[in-house]
Amino acid sequence: MTTIKIAPSILAADFTRLGDEVAKVLEGGADYIHVDVMDGYFVPNISLGLPVMKSMRNMFPDAFFDVHLMVSRPERYAEVFCEAGASHITVHVEADMPEKTTQALNEISSLGVRIGLSVKPKTPIWALEPWIEDIDMALIMTVEPGFGGQSFMPGMLQKIRDLRARLDEVNPDCDIEVDGGITLETAGPAKAAGANVLVTGSAVFSSDDYGRMIRLLREVR
Ligand code: DX5
Ligand code: ZN
Repeated sequence: MTTIKIAPSILAADFTRLGDEVAKVLEGGADYIHVDVMDGYFVPNISLGLPVMKSMRNMFPDAFFDVHLMVSRPERYAEVFCEAGASHITVHVEADMPEKTTQALNEISSLGVRIGLSVKPKTPIWALEPWIEDIDMALIMTVEPGFGGQSFMPGMLQKIRDLRARLDEVNPDCDIEVDGGITLETAGPAKAAGANVLVTGSAVFSSDDYGRMIRLLREVR
């Protein structure tokens, strides 16, 4: 049976108490801490960056930080985010020219950090083809990136199914992460389609028992 991983997105946390919030989801059984980095250019929002990543790594030396770079030309930030403590870095296929994407992924990987590649809702999965055999995780955006609290786009389920079928042929160990609008209603269909890593912002951080919500999201079918 596929192991489901839950990755709470700190974008929905209370930033005035970020350390406590991260501690609470980790105690609640979170597998990854999802870190949404936005540059105000690739997406119309600015979130957080290197100083926050470094502080979290210092406070939680053993946590798995799943960094989602929603920035243009991510190759510029690959090395510094690795040094700041990322465990995994996902870049967007739309964020640069293919050669630069290759450069970014190679650099991250050479520093011993796992690599991921993401597609926005309107980008077809065949855009991942040049790197499909090399990545550790593919991230299917299930909302337009930029903001938490949006509704899951059901049209993305077919993309997840198609990608799972393709990965089973060429890179069966590759994870599929879904990001955006994951709730107790949408987690089941996303898993059934083939996703095994679920990002969850508002569903966890707006609940009154983070551990319970993480467990329910993991178990729901
Ligand atoms: C959106 C971010 C998501 C977001 C998810 O651009 O990549 O990680 O925080 O938040 P929810 O779960 O609230 O949709
Ligand atoms: Zn994200």
